[in-house]
Amino acid sequence: MNRRSWLRTIAAAAGLTTISLATTEYLQPQGDSGARTVDLGPIDEVISDGTRRVVNVNGRMALLSRRADVVTALDLTCTHAGCPLAFDAKTQRIRCACHGGAFAVTGEPVAGPPRRPLDQLECRTENGRLYIRTQLNGDV
Ligand code: FES
Repeated sequence: MNRRSWLRTIAAAAGLTTISLATTEYLQPQGDSGARTVDLGPIDEVISDGTRRVVNVNGRMALLSRRADVVTALDLTCTHAGCPLAFDAKTQRIRCACHGGAFAVTGEPVAGPPRRPLDQLECRTENGRLYIRTQLNGDV
């Protein structure tokens, strides 16, 4: 297999992988940022007004919160040492099992060693669909 056919095989495999995702994903050419935006679907099917829910967006966990047509998303990665976080709907707290950290649903740290708030993931609605940007500043 020469280099050109090998590259075609890799590109085809990447295309099939992309098609198999439950969400429609595309790359937005915004300078060199490489920002990745994912279409989560019709906003009313993704999240009801006045609720919160955790979504897995291509491996990145996020807590969505909706008020009217405004949706915010918090990256569920602990700002202390990067452990995955869990949302406790009963207490409305975001908890870290690694060192006992906890965050309010606003993303502010409320217990344990974390000092920095959770990162926000950019959300927008367009034509009734909800889009989320999965890349944070500083991501490569
Ligand atoms: S990594 Fe979450 S509290 Fe330390």
